[in-house]
Amino acid sequence: VTQLRIGIAGLGTVGVGVMQLLSDNAAIVKARTGKDLVVSAVSSRDKTRDRGVSLDGIDWHDDARDLAVADNVDVVLELIGGSDGIAKEVCEIALGAGKDVVTANKALIAHHGAALGKLATNNNAALLFEAAVAGGIPVIKTLREGLAANEIKSVAGILNGTCNYILTEMEKTGRDFADVLEEAQEKGYAEADPSFDVGGIDAAHKLAIIASLAFGVPPTMDDLFIEGIEHVTYEDITFARELGYSVRLIGITKPTENGIERRMHPCLIPEELPLGQVDDVFNAVQINAHPVDTIFLEGRGAGAGPTASSVMADVMDIARGVNVPIFGIVDSSLKSQSFSSMDDVACRYYLRLSVEDKAGVMAAITKELEKADISVETLVQPPHKNGEAAQIVLTTHETTEKKMRAALDTMSALDVIKEKPQLIRIEQS
Ligand SMILES: NC(=O)c1ccc[n+]([C@@H]2O[C@H](COP(=O)([O-])OP(=O)(O)OC[C@H]3O[C@@H](n4cnc5c(N)ncnc54)[C@H](OP(=O)(O)O)[C@@H]3O)[C@@H](O)[C@H]2O)c1
Repeated sequence: VTQLRIGIAGLGTVGVGVMQLLSDNAAIVKARTGKDLVVSAVSSRDKTRDRGVSLDGIDWHDDARDLAVADNVDVVLELIGGSDGIAKEVCEIALGAGKDVVTANKALIAHHGAALGKLATNNNAALLFEAAVAGGIPVIKTLREGLAANEIKSVAGILNGTCNYILTEMEKTGRDFADVLEEAQEKGYAEADPSFDVGGIDAAHKLAIIASLAFGVPPTMDDLFIEGIEHVTYEDITFARELGYSVRLIGITKPTENGIERRMHPCLIPEELPLGQVDDVFNAVQINAHPVDTIFLEGRGAGAGPTASSVMADVMDIARGVNVPIFGIVDSSLKSQSFSSMDDVACRYYLRLSVEDKAGVMAAITKELEKADISVETLVQPPHKNGEAAQIVLTTHETTEKKMRAALDTMSALDVIKEKPQLIRIEQS
């Protein structure tokens, strides 16, 4: 067969991006696959809308479920979105019919990847999702293929462009979170409902998929620790800078003696490290593995072109007949493994405390930390204006989350503490 017939469900940013790329780089795609890749069918909600690409000669399906079983479709591209509903149905129907599926849908894979993977395997179909993680950065292929022989030690990533844009914009312009978010929405960098992005959920979906490929665990959201960036203030970013750190939303996964650790939260990261220098809407992934050592990938995590680049890489694998295990290990061994509890996480911490401006406050606080067996690394009391609450900013040596939480509870009860203490974890590498 010299043709691969593609059905695209969802003609939004990514769907149209794929059509555009297929037409722009048709000769390259043909030379590299030996096949003509043609779009034979599409489905979207609104048939009348001009999408800026020609749909001449392409079958239109009002119902994407019909596209999923159409005789003239070899590969189904699910580019609708959402963890459930029509996107999931389209994938299930297509895989059930033995058709290969490519999706950019991280929510779907993070929640239902294991079941869909099983369905694909049982029906001898491919399920590929390079575009679901970090847009144009080939992180899935890197983990699944490039590093197939390695023992993965840890993966840390900046996986949400909206959050990274907001944090770097706060840093550059000295404005607060709400202000920058509003501007990001006006510019189209943030959704009208930004909660999935700024709440860390979108990035956590990607981390769940990364952990699956890195450690052979199912991609699940269960027990994945998520904290968003809403509570990070301009003050924190400034104090962090003074201490030599950038503030970024970072997802971390690694094996520990208590199980696989998976956490997504704002971090202070040394500004001289590669992750500390990722700015604006860019994404990045740092992988430590044996024997390859450290790999750092950075690029555009969203947008029509970069995302289409990853979707097409998957489609071209199918055209070439490449066959890879869906989550990097043969399916039968994708087994539940325990995930470590947040209590056991060991790291350093940044703490900002709003305190009463009177003698003995500093001593009271250090005493509480000492009682909790937490040792302070740096402690500063920045100058403040009369009438404003005084601030104490400190960083700790490595301790556990459990100890830190207990210390925060007792400190919060002290009369001299005026507001809920601000805690941000410090990442060293
Ligand atoms: N945008 C990015 O940069 C990016 C990056 C990485 C991954 N992704 C993922 O890619 C997927 C698509 O994202 P997107 O940004 O392209 O979204 P989008 O612009 O909102 O496009 C979604 C498309 O799905 C169509 N659709 C909605 N309900 C449908 C239904 N019931 N049947 C058929 N079509 C339906 C919409 O149709 P109408 O146009 O007719 O309303 C629209 O064309 C999501 O899973 C997203 O997470 C996106």
